[in-house]
Amino acid sequence: MQITILNHPLVDHKISVLRDKNTPSPIFRQLVEELVALLAYEATRGIRTEEREIETPVAKTVGRMLASPRPLVVPILRAGLGMLEGMTKLLPTAEVGFLGMARNEETLDIVTYAERLPEDLTGRQVYVLDPMLATGGTLIETIKFLRERGADHITCLCIIGAPEGIEALQQGVAGMENVNLFLATQDERLNEKAYIVPGLGDAGDRLYGLAE
Ligand code: URA
Repeated sequence: MQITILNHPLVDHKISVLRDKNTPSPIFRQLVEELVALLAYEATRGIRTEEREIETPVAKTVGRMLASPRPLVVPILRAGLGMLEGMTKLLPTAEVGFLGMARNEETLDIVTYAERLPEDLTGRQVYVLDPMLATGGTLIETIKFLRERGADHITCLCIIGAPEGIEALQQGVAGMENVNLFLATQDERLNEKAYIVPGLGDAGDRLYGLAE
């Protein structure tokens, strides 16, 4: 798995405002959208394009446009939804699928509780959105799920990653080709409740205003 961590002063600034517990939800959502646009710009460098003949007002020429089949964007419910707007602004023609994953508190297994994706993903490039890479369990299961459906190129976009989750993900997808991870930043560690430290708290709550 190839890992890219953005290293940019604008990203540092936006993440610092996100982390602040006094940042209200509307600003938090706006900043997530802006960060996703920066992440997506880097993460789509390998997106497939194909030649197309076009005619400018001056001459005929050959340009490049997104190839078929269209890329698929998959936000992981619930917090990944907050990243969708920023991603589709950059990729307005992408198809969007949804995956809901949760931990079964008795078995600790990750279970899929909602799924709205094409049955056949053969040859598709898939962009997975999940803001917080904590233990890595959800992303590992998501990648396996997408692979079983035939996706051959999977790129995960996360805002903050914990070293424990990055390591687990690396091991969980070892041997799989064409899996990439793009992070805006890497934090110090997980705490005993599997929250990222210093992190930003519960991303879903911060996005949707349930933090108090
Ligand atoms: N999910 C979150 O929303 N925050 C964390 O710190 C870890 C997982």
